[in-house]
Amino acid sequence: MELKEVFEQSKLHQKTCYVCPVCNGVACKGQIPGMGGKGTGASFIRNYQKIHDVKLVLDTIMEDSDISTESYFFDTKVSLPVYGAPIAGMIQQYQSDFSETDFADAMVEGCLLAGTISFVGDGKDVTTFVDPLRSVEKNQGMGVPTMKPWERKGIDARLEHVRVSNCLALACDVDASGLLFLRNVDPRITNFSVYDIRYVKEKANKPLIIKGIMSVKGALKALEAGADGIVVSNHGGRVLDDTLATIEVLEEICDAVKGKMKVFVDGGFRSGVDVFKALALGADGVLIGRPMAIAALGNRKDGVSEYLKKIQIELKETMMMTGCHTIADITKDKIICK
Ligand SMILES: Cc1cc2nc3c(=O)[nH]c(=O)nc-3n(C[C@H](O)[C@H](O)[C@H](O)COP(=O)(O)O)c2cc1C
Repeated sequence: MELKEVFEQSKLHQKTCYVCPVCNGVACKGQIPGMGGKGTGASFIRNYQKIHDVKLVLDTIMEDSDISTESYFFDTKVSLPVYGAPIAGMIQQYQSDFSETDFADAMVEGCLLAGTISFVGDGKDVTTFVDPLRSVEKNQGMGVPTMKPWERKGIDARLEHVRVSNCLALACDVDASGLLFLRNVDPRITNFSVYDIRYVKEKANKPLIIKGIMSVKGALKALEAGADGIVVSNHGGRVLDDTLATIEVLEEICDAVKGKMKVFVDGGFRSGVDVFKALALGADGVLIGRPMAIAALGNRKDGVSEYLKKIQIELKETMMMTGCHTIADITKDKIICK
């Protein structure tokens, strides 16, 4: 099925995403539950816009040999450094006929089909964490469960499953403390301290990725807590209005912690050209959320894999026009920030 048809088909399986030609946060602004950014939607919109202020430097005189997008997620080889972002809320956010398991299967298996890995999400009930974790486990552990910063009993209930899981790593989206609808449930969402992150790291006994870092200060706290990686993310603009865009803070965060931990980024990345820019600014990889979720709802694992194929072709084309044969060749001098 062609990608255009995949996106069209997704309209049969969810009611909240308008499936716009460009997924930039404008049509859905403020729509939570739904696809939008919080408040005026400015954080989501800015994520998208600021990526396009980064411009590429053409350099086409190069040897006409193979271009490889291969990379590593920690020790695991991937076909491209692009990952499925964790998404949860099939009923509440998407009004979908998919279960969390249907959706996680599509994301995990679709990413694997394309040679890469998906993160999976978490919600109010433990099952919203455990069901996607099972999708990862039945696929040789090739995926990353993402736990929200619950108060201790919520964390312990999830860690029990993670400890005995074959998953590659564990992530924790600490910025979910801004999801107000999870403040009044039992157990409730909390703010995590350095101490809490250290607790999760010790108990999980897996590489730990802290998702939702938007400053050097935050990155250094994650490092101090023993995290192995971070995702520079503002949760797709869903936890606070009027934040900076992720691409605006990426370079300084990479400069501060590069070599000490892995740095991933998400928010508004929609093409291989966009991915190239993040890699040039120092990121080890990019997560893509909403469009990949729509591809999953449109044609399950084949939709996801088709979407990633598009991203890989665009990334290769960008490398071909900027003098890069490998991902390691994608350096800061290949871009200019306007
Ligand atoms: C409907 C929806 C549900 C989400 N659920 C989760 C989640 O369970 N855990 C998480 O860490 N992030 C969650 N996110 C945030 C995404 O992982 C990601 O940070 C964001 O969508 C990236 O931006 P993009 O969609 O512009 O690519 C969710 C985002 C959306 C839109």
